[in-house]
Amino acid sequence: MLIAGNWKMNGSLAKAADLAECLAQQRLNRIKSNVRVAVFPPAVHLPIVVHRLQQARIYVGAQDVSAHTDGAFTGELSASMLADVGCSMVLVGHSERRARLHESNREAANKYAAAQASGLTPVLCVGETLAERDAGHTSEVVEGQISAVAEQVGWENVCLGVIAYEPVWAIGTGITASPQQAQDVHAGIRQRLGDAGEQTYILYGGSVNAENAQALFAQEDVDGGLIGGAALQAAEFLRIIQLAEEA
Ligand code: 13P
Repeated sequence: MLIAGNWKMNGSLAKAADLAECLAQQRLNRIKSNVRVAVFPPAVHLPIVVHRLQQARIYVGAQDVSAHTDGAFTGELSASMLADVGCSMVLVGHSERRARLHESNREAANKYAAAQASGLTPVLCVGETLAERDAGHTSEVVEGQISAVAEQVGWENVCLGVIAYEPVWAIGTGITASPQQAQDVHAGIRQRLGDAGEQTYILYGGSVNAENAQALFAQEDVDGGLIGGAALQAAEFLRIIQLAEEA
């Protein structure tokens, strides 16, 4: 199991440091935990969070990465810069970036490749809109998003990353996919990845909280969660980690 917290554009330096400190203290008491934990703070908070989590075996990642290695790309951050400040992971193709910043499958694929080239583990976010689900296109959309990356880096490298299935209609809405809906999509992804995908983490994201996590984590192909709002409160995030430990 892998439990990841996407902090999105929330908080302040002080709040990020506090949250990290709280998670670090709790994790240090649970050295034997079989659950991996990652957090994705805003980029400007990465160094302090890395510093606070250094001893706690919690991975730190960025929420986005440039597809380019360096040069005249004002405002962008390269994968090697993120690795340099202590990141080991990065989100790629989050639906908020796809929808609001018009990020395409091809851009996500380029970012994924750049992340892996610098030794970061990319977390590829995929998922359908409500209209796409209602039209019966869920698996086609999800497969298209993953295939675009596979075309760029090969299926073996897709299997080395993490996939987060986040139905757009479930993000920040309080509506989660039912455990069966999640399992169906996850099983389809697993099948598409083939043998090499048996060890690939396939996370579910979209309004996961301490109330609904247990039923989601009980599904065979749900290997953890990518948590938004509920990751901003240490107690709730820690409770979700505990549910993953018990799953
Ligand atoms: P919420 O858990 O707030 O729905 O956000 C999910 C998400 O987008 C994580 O990346």
